[in-house]
Amino acid sequence: MKPQDVTNTPGEHAIFMIFGLQDGDEALAKVKDLCADFTAVARSMRTRLPDSAISCIMGFGAEAWSKLFPKRGKPKELEVFKEIKGSKYTAVSTPGDIFLHIRAARLDVCLEAATIISSKLHGAVYPIDEVQGFRYFDGRAIIGFVDGTENPEDEARLASAAIGVDDADFAGGSYAFVQKYLHDMNAWNALSTEEQEKAIGRRKFNDVELSDEEKPENAHNAVTNIEDEDGNELKIVRANMAFANPAKGEFGTYFIGYAGKFSTTRKMLENMFIGEPIGNTDRLLDFSTAATGTLFFVPSADLLEELGED
Ligand code: HEM
Repeated sequence: MKPQDVTNTPGEHAIFMIFGLQDGDEALAKVKDLCADFTAVARSMRTRLPDSAISCIMGFGAEAWSKLFPKRGKPKELEVFKEIKGSKYTAVSTPGDIFLHIRAARLDVCLEAATIISSKLHGAVYPIDEVQGFRYFDGRAIIGFVDGTENPEDEARLASAAIGVDDADFAGGSYAFVQKYLHDMNAWNALSTEEQEKAIGRRKFNDVELSDEEKPENAHNAVTNIEDEDGNELKIVRANMAFANPAKGEFGTYFIGYAGKFSTTRKMLENMFIGEPIGNTDRLLDFSTAATGTLFFVPSADLLEELGED
C-alpha cells in the first residue's frame, strides 16, 4: 500500500490544520468526497508549480474514524490520546477529528492548498487549530538548535513511520501525533549556551552530540532515545516546524511525529513527562509547555482513496 507523504522532510513552510466534525450525514458525505480526490489536490499543484515540493497529508482522530468508517474496524493503536500527567508537567489531550499537514517550498503554495481543502470541507467541519510553521535558519527549532538530525534515513524512514503487516488492514498507514509547544524564551535565553546544550544534548552551533560523560540524564536527546527489549533503537519520523507571533511574544515548536507504532511515540512522551526513572523529566520541558496534544490515524494513500467510496 502506498503511504501518504509521511516520510517527507519538514520542508520550508508548513500549515497544520485541525478540524472538528459537524454532526449529520451530510458532513460525513462531504469528508468522504474529499478522501476520494484528496491526492488530486497536491497532484494538480505539482503540475501547476513543479518546483513547489507540495505535499498534503490527511488524518483522522479516533472518534471521527469510527463515525466516518464504521465498517472498517479500527487501527490497533488508534485511540483518543490519554493525557500523560507527571509530577511537574502534563502532556495534555486536546480534541481533533480531521488533521491536515501541508508542506511546500513556498507559503503561498501551502495557503493555496489549505484554501482548496478547507473550501471542500466547508459546512462539514469547524476549525479547532491552525498553525503556520516555517524553516528557521539551518533547520533549527526556534530555541536555536538544529532539529531532526537523528531522524531515521533511507528504508528505515518508512519502516519507522508506517504501519506494517502486523496490522495488515491498515498497512502503509501511520500514527501522527501532534503537540503545539510554547517556549518561555526569556527563561531559555537567560541560560548560558553550555546550559542550553545540556538541555538538548547537542552543541548549539555545529549540532555535534555531547559525549556520554557530558550529557545529563535529563537531556532531551537522552530521554527520547529509546530501545526495545533486544536493544534495537526505536525511531519515529519527526517533521517539527518553528512558529512565532513576535508581537504577542509567542514562540513555539509544532511537534509532529509519524510512527508505525504509536506506542513508540507514547514511550518517548512518558520519558519526557513522567521520567524513566520517575522524576527524570526532560529538561526541555522547564522551558516548553505543551498547549495541545492529539493523535490521528493517517491512512495509506490507497486506503484514503478507497475510503471515498465507503
Ligand atoms: C531530538 C527539539 C519535542 C523526540 C531533538 C533535537 C532537538 C529537538 C533540537 C536534537 C536533534 C535531533 O536529533 O533532532 C525538540 C523540541 C521539541 C521536541 C524543540 C518541543 C518542545 C519532542 C517530542 C518527542 C521528541 C514531543 C517525542 C514524542 C525526539 C527524538 C529525538 C529528538 C526521538 C532524537 C533522540 C536521539 O538522539 O536519539 N528534539 N523536540 N521531541 N527529539 Fe525532540
